[in-house]
Amino acid sequence: MSEKWVKYDRNAPCWCGSGKKYKHCHEQFDEKIREFEIKGAEVPDRSLIKTEKDVEGIRNSAKINIAVLDEIAEKIHAGMSTQEIDDIVYNTTVKMGGIPADLHYEGFPKSVCTSINDEVCHGIPSKDVILKDGDIVNVDCSTILNGYFSDSSRMFMIGDVSPEKKKLVQVTKECVEIGIKHVIPWTFLGDMGNAVHQHALDNDYTVVRQIGGHGCGLEFHEDPYVSYVSKPGTEMLMVPGMCFTIEPMVNMGTDEIYQDEENGWTIYTEDHKPSAQWEVQVLVTETGCEVLTY
Ligand code: MF3
Ligand code: CO
Repeated sequence: MSEKWVKYDRNAPCWCGSGKKYKHCHEQFDEKIREFEIKGAEVPDRSLIKTEKDVEGIRNSAKINIAVLDEIAEKIHAGMSTQEIDDIVYNTTVKMGGIPADLHYEGFPKSVCTSINDEVCHGIPSKDVILKDGDIVNVDCSTILNGYFSDSSRMFMIGDVSPEKKKLVQVTKECVEIGIKHVIPWTFLGDMGNAVHQHALDNDYTVVRQIGGHGCGLEFHEDPYVSYVSKPGTEMLMVPGMCFTIEPMVNMGTDEIYQDEENGWTIYTEDHKPSAQWEVQVLVTETGCEVLTY
């Protein structure tokens, strides 16, 4: 058994900060995790289980995150530059007391990612990139409030979008909805990832393999890594209190991707066919999950 779920004094206050005695709080929960661990399952470290205080902090961060994307939804239009989207994200976030998590993250130069058509993710906003009729664009927004992180992205369709692209956007949204339904405590991330993958495959799409979701809350990117090409019964056990993103990147053509050599960020599909992505952040609960961002 690993160090992470060592036994705890039954009469001591619970590690979760509830103030209750351990034996009246997380003792049974810990026991259940140990049973899975003994059977060889990958289980989360205790540090990945959010306390009530953490959850409150993440929920408040998420309120800004959602408000920012709502603001983009109202203002986005053909003829607008992606820099204008960046300005809205920065100004709205700061006005509400938050910080855009993307800004200066590992050297990223802007406050949000804007990825158009064959751009899979990590597109850099620019005054020279103008949204045009027929584009599909992902706006991926991440927020810090009082040290708590939230993360979500939506697709926007600009003007008259082709039926093929519309379907890609719709099916990708369905993939996330299916993922949400498969966040069931005491099952595996691989069960969820496989369900997401299957829906994309059923529609003759592919899912990007090299980039996935992540734990999120106390840090921008925490454990676990969340794949959407995973197999049932594999990957980390989902337990109440874990917080992570569901953010599959679904491609119309090949799942192969490459990175822009010049800017070191933007990811494109190898065949330049369109790619779509939606992202939500969820908290695993006793019965399923709470969707924190959308
Ligand atoms: N928001 C992205 C995610 O979903 C991460 C963007 S990192 C950046 O994980 F540096 F490109 F902004
Ligand atoms: Co994310």
